[in-house]
Parts: sequence; C-alpha cells; structure tokens
Amino acid sequence: MKQVQAKILKNKEIAKGFYRMRIASSYLAGYSRPGQFVEVRCSQETDPLLRRPFGIHRVIDAGIELLYEVVGRGTDALSQKKPGETLDIIGPLGNGFDLGLATCARQRPAILVAGGNGVAPLFFLAEELKRKSIKIHVLIGGRSKGHILCEKEFKKLGAKAVITTDDGSKGLKGLVTNPLLTALSAAASRPSVIYACGPTGMLKAVSRLAYSSGVPCQVSLEEHMACGVGVCLGCPVKVKTDSRYKMVCKDGPVFDAGEIIW
Ligand SMILES: Cc1cc2nc3c(=O)[nH]c(=O)nc-3n(C[C@H](O)[C@H](O)[C@H](O)COP(=O)(O)OP(=O)(O)OC[C@H]3O[C@@H](n4cnc5c(N)ncnc54)[C@H](O)[C@@H]3O)c2cc1C
Ligand code: FES
Repeated sequence: MKQVQAKILKNKEIAKGFYRMRIASSYLAGYSRPGQFVEVRCSQETDPLLRRPFGIHRVIDAGIELLYEVVGRGTDALSQKKPGETLDIIGPLGNGFDLGLATCARQRPAILVAGGNGVAPLFFLAEELKRKSIKIHVLIGGRSKGHILCEKEFKKLGAKAVITTDDGSKGLKGLVTNPLLTALSAAASRPSVIYACGPTGMLKAVSRLAYSSGVPCQVSLEEHMACGVGVCLGCPVKVKTDSRYKMVCKDGPVFDAGEIIW
C-alpha cells in the first residue's frame, strides 16, 4: 500500500448518477487484488476532508478503474474531475476475495451476487476467475433498470447473467436473492462458492441462504470509513470470534459470511 498521485485518464457517466473513472498507476495495477479498495481524496478543498473508499473495479495495463455512484459531496466532487487532473489515492487496501474457494471445485460455477453499485468490485473478481477458467454466474439486482450496471461486460466475459429489479423494469421482478435460491435448489447449478457485494440487508439474506445450503460465501462489506488502515477504529463489524469486533478496512472488507454477527 502507498500514496500515489495518479492521472485521471477518463471519467464518464455510464448510467444516470453512475461514473466509471480510469486512473493511470502502474503501481496500483501491479499490486491490486479483487476485493481490495482505495481511499481517494475527492477534493483539494477541506470539505470533504476525509478520503472516500472505493472498490477496485478493474485493473488495466496502465492502471485501475473505479465505478462509483454519486451519493454525496465526495462522489459529487469526484464526478466533476476531468481527464488530465491528478488524484491523490492510497491503496491498495484491505484483504480481497479468496479465489481458492472457487478453484477447489472448478467443475461448479462461482456465483457472484451484486446489489446496486456492489457490482463494482465483483467485475474485477470475475475477470480473475475467468483467467483461471472458472465458470461464472452473476446475479445483478437493482431498484430499476437504470441501476443495473455491467450486464454487457459480464456477458462479454462469458458469464451467465440474471437481472432482477425491484420494480420489474428489467429482468425478473423482485429481489436478487430469488434467482440465488433457485440456483441453490437445483443440484445441476449448485455453485462452489458465493461472492457478494451490496447493501447490508441483501448480504444478510445471501449469507442466510448460503449457510442453509452449505455453500461457502464471502461478502464484501461497505462501512463508513475514515483512516482506512485500522487506526481510528471507525469501521467496526461484530464478529463471532473472541475479538468480538473486527475493522472492515483492515480485516476486510471481505469476510466469510458465517463470521459476521448480522
Ligand atoms: C470498502 C468500500 C468500498 C466501496 N466501494 C464503492 C464502489 O466501488 N462504488 C461506490 O459507488 N461506492 C463504494 N463505496 C461507498 C462509497 O465509499 C460511498 O458512497 C462514499 O464514501 C460516499 O461519499 P460522499 O461524500 O459522496 O457521500 P457522503 O456525503 O459521505 O454520504 C452521502 C450518503 O451516502 C451514504 N454513505 C456514505 N458512505 C457510505 C458507505 N460506505 N456505505 C453506505 N452508504 C454510505 C451516507 O450515509 C449518506 O446517506 C465503498 C465503501 C467501502 C467502505
Ligand atoms: S476506517 Fe479507521 S479503523 Fe477502519
């Protein structure tokens, strides 16, 4: 992990309120693993002062890509940045997904479950799984069709993609856990592992389904963060081990689902 001053190569709105940003950094490209994140200084001003965390969406030859949703001051400032500007970034941070869970039973697919912008780190994971010749099924859920991201990109990788929307405007109407339940119920589509990222309620439901079907499951948690390196104790999550709490930034953001007290 180090602090880099990296040039922005692209910053494009790909759906209303969602941006994909390409950043030049051979250091981040070389050291990032799926599930890790970066802490970005979104503004040169004192407001917002704290860095904001973003999952690494893709690694390209020259650097990395982020996929972010504009939800507040930090992400709004980020969306105003232009190619050629420099961004102050610390990373890569956190632990990342355990790809070994997918490779140990490679005849079965890995299921990736994404809710909203939770799709961001799962695409990097999918690219790595593809490189290891693992079959990928991706379930992407969102509020409505404008919130479904990366479907085409996953399909280009050869992943089977199922879409759900709360309002039925695209794909199946309902929760993303419905097709997960279907996949877990059929012996033929039973996955080797489930990897998930999205809102806490979704992760809790995914982890319950995984537990009841005995499939290993890893979840990437999104907590409000400050330091990003385990110093400020600002991102605790309750766990079942003796330590009782772990820090999402230092010990995660990826956890085995069974370890969390939801
Ligand atoms: C490890 C990690 C990886 C992340 N990866 C991504 C990513 O790849 N793409 C992406 O779009 N977002 C990601 N997030 C969430 C992102 O960090 C927040 O959306 C961002 O910090 C909001 O900053 P802001 O200044 O725009 O909003 P603020 O003004 O700080 O907050 C605006 C609203 O967003 C909510 N919010 C802020 N931070 C979070 C958070 N961490 N989780 C849930 N709600 C939050 C606030 O409660 C508030 O309602 C990630 C978070 C973590 C912890
Ligand atoms: S953000 Fe400081 S301990 Fe996690």
